[in-house]
Parts: sequence; structure tokens; C-alpha cells
Amino acid sequence: MNTEPKSEEFTTVPAVFAVEDSYQIMVPVKCGMLFWVEVGKEKYFDHSNGVIRSDTLIHRVSVPTKVLDAAGKYTVCFKKVIKREPYYTETEETKTKTYNFYPVRTDGVINIYHIADTHGDFSFSSKAGKYFGGDIDLLILNGDIIDHSSDVKNFEIIFKLCEAITGGEHPCIFSRGNHDLRGSCAEKMVDYYPNSNGKSYYTFRLGRIWGIVLDCGEDKSDSNAEYGGTVCFSGFRKEETEFLKKVAKDGEYLDKDIEYKLIIVHIPFTYTLDSPFNIEKELFKSWADILKDKIKPDAIIAGHLHRTCVSKIGGELDSKGQPCPVIVGSCALRDQNNAVTDFIGCALTIDGGKTDVMFTDSERNVLSRETL
Ligand SMILES: [Fe+2]
Repeated sequence: MNTEPKSEEFTTVPAVFAVEDSYQIMVPVKCGMLFWVEVGKEKYFDHSNGVIRSDTLIHRVSVPTKVLDAAGKYTVCFKKVIKREPYYTETEETKTKTYNFYPVRTDGVINIYHIADTHGDFSFSSKAGKYFGGDIDLLILNGDIIDHSSDVKNFEIIFKLCEAITGGEHPCIFSRGNHDLRGSCAEKMVDYYPNSNGKSYYTFRLGRIWGIVLDCGEDKSDSNAEYGGTVCFSGFRKEETEFLKKVAKDGEYLDKDIEYKLIIVHIPFTYTLDSPFNIEKELFKSWADILKDKIKPDAIIAGHLHRTCVSKIGGELDSKGQPCPVIVGSCALRDQNNAVTDFIGCALTIDGGKTDVMFTDSERNVLSRETL
């Protein structure tokens, strides 16, 4: 774990998110700066069609997964902008900071920690997320980490959790939850979170692991009064269905080196909740069918229900025909005043054909365990 303090110009250390065949290295910053990452001799700039960005407080560069995995370290570089001018822009000297990077192990046990539904709690969820300490391979942040998106400041907790648990040295995966979609800044999430050309659903590849991040959108119909006419997830989900069909057809999941296929989604869509949450039954069944018939994942990991459980095929959450076990892995415990008193997340260890699912609290206690 990187114990050096982060650069004073950064709000947190970088977070390294897996998206498709790249890592999106993202850093929230405190001032305008030109920003790039160096891996070996190659420079990867945060740019807009060739113009290096500085009028932003969140930077992102994409580095090919294979390049960073092989290098095992990356250097973030920046120059504070004194005055950005049409001619002869003034900047300070370049500053750099180097971070080690540990990709998902190529052999042996893989350790994954999953957090969702913290709804703004950092204290307990960050402690729970340290279950594996520096031995973590992958951190999954699976939606509703914030309570709502009324202020871009709310987005910082994502990066704070990545910092506390990975130190910028291990890969992370981010998926949106329904609470992320509420508030005047929800439309700006694409600037602040990892995504694939603006889409919040995408595939990823991390060594022996391949997977898909899916996004169910809101949990009630678009016409629900709560949303005040601000959402159109019906069409969004139809587009996502076409994406899923294309993934199934293209067959990247058939690569011989893939040993474990994981679906990450905030809402466990194979389960039908009571009204008004019983939306999209046919569409979600079609997702389950595509996964079952073609992609054949090893596990779906979800949150949203504010509980922890493992539903095997035909189990308690199987309303639509599960393609695989569904793990619901997050639960904040609260007192009678609704204050968070602890957080339970999900530690997954993958060892060959065996997956251990452990629900653990902020004191690293294993509260229950199941082997798949
Ligand atoms: Fe949720």
C-alpha cells in the first residue's frame, strides 16, 4: 500500500478503474492543471481531441490494461496552470508522483471485495473494504455509494473509498445504483465516473476474470412521481439489451484464458420486487436468458436490497430464471435514529473452480460464509 501522502493538489490518490480492455486512471484535483500519466516511455494525456484539458477538477486518462499490468507502476504528471491563454499559456513546473500497480494475480487465489449501498457512509464501509488489506486484487463499488447526486461534491466518496482500500495500487470497478441517478448533478456523472464512451454499461477484463457491468437505471417506472419527469430509463434499458445481445454474439467471453465470468449490477434484476418496484419483468428476463444461454457467468453480484444473501439457481431471488448464483453483498446497519453503526460487505475469494463468499463487517469479522 502506498503510504506516501498524495500530492497536495490532488483530492485523493488516483483510482484505477477497469473498463473494457483499458484502465481509466482518474483523480479529483483542487486546481486547474495539465494532466497526463506515464507508463514506461509512453505518455497518456487527459485531452479533448488533442487539446490537453485543464478546465476541470476531475482528470481521466485511459491506459491499455496489458501495458499497465506489464509495467506494474505508473507515474501521474501535472503542471498547474497559472494562466491559460490563446498564446503562451503560463504553467508551473511539472510535478510527478509514481504509484505501484498490482494487477489481478495471474495464478493462485483472487481476492475481491464488494461494497454497495453505503449511502454516504465512509467510516464503516472503508474499514470493511480493508478485509484483505494489501492482499486485495479487485475492489468493486456497486452503486448507491452516494445517497443522491445533488452536488458534485458527493462524488468524492467514490474516490475516497478507492484511496482508502486500494491506495491507487489495485484495480477497481464502478457501477451505478439507482440513488446515483437522483439530483441535479446526476447528468454529470459521465464526467466523474468511469464509463465506456459515455455508457455506464460495459465489459471488462482483468487477467483471468472477464465480466460485464450492467446498469438497471432507476428502480421504479419512469412515470413515477418521485422523478418528476426527469428520467427515461425505458429506452436506456432497450439500448442496453442490444449491447448485451452484441456481447453475447461477439463472444469475447470465450477467450481460453478466462477462468471466471462475473456480472456486476446494482439491482439483482432476476428478482421481482413488489409494486412499484416490479418493473421491466420481460426485459430483465431477456437479460437473464441471454446470460444463461450464451455467456454463462459464474456469479452475479448485486446490492440494492440492503441485505446479504446468496441465491442459487431456483433460490429465493430467482423470479425470472437465474443464469448462476446471485450474491447480494452489502448492508449498512443502522440504529433507531438511522445513523450507521456498522457496514457489512462481501469478500470473494476465487480459487480455481471454487468461490468462497464471505459477508464481513468493519472489524473484519466473517459473519457468514458460503462456498459456490
Ligand atoms: Fe439501490
